[in-house]
Amino acid sequence: MKIGLSSDHGAFEYKEILKEMLKEEGHEVTDFGCCSAEAVDYTDTASAVARSVALGENEKGIVMCGTGIGASISANKIKGIRCALCSEPTSARLTREHNDSNVLAMGQRMIGVEMMKDIVHAWLYTDFSNGERHKRRIDKIAELER
Ligand code: RB5
Repeated sequence: MKIGLSSDHGAFEYKEILKEMLKEEGHEVTDFGCCSAEAVDYTDTASAVARSVALGENEKGIVMCGTGIGASISANKIKGIRCALCSEPTSARLTREHNDSNVLAMGQRMIGVEMMKDIVHAWLYTDFSNGERHKRRIDKIAELER
């Protein structure tokens, strides 16, 4: 799967760990920064991932910051993006099944490394349910963008 990945300085360490994990699992990862623990704005890195997903350059995106909140808010400003902030795997699974989320947000300061990996696995490997009621709601989300 083609995956866009980003963090700000508050999640640089986890992004690097996640990048290696995803590559080892055979994914094609594009890293949209940041490139060190030096302070950057989560708006810039998260929106770059979100744009790449909206344009179809990446199938899914993962955005991170200290809490995951700034990154998720930023990603959700991009048309066509349904970004879910998750701190445990059940929400990650359900947001794929119900919301067909195309970007996942997480916060390094909120979760441990193993939890991050579990969340990512639950999110990446769960398909959208295709349920009628979920499709209707997703269509309504799209209408909110018009
Ligand atoms: C950066 O210090 C911090 O504000 C950021 O990583 C994130 O938590 C914002 O939502």
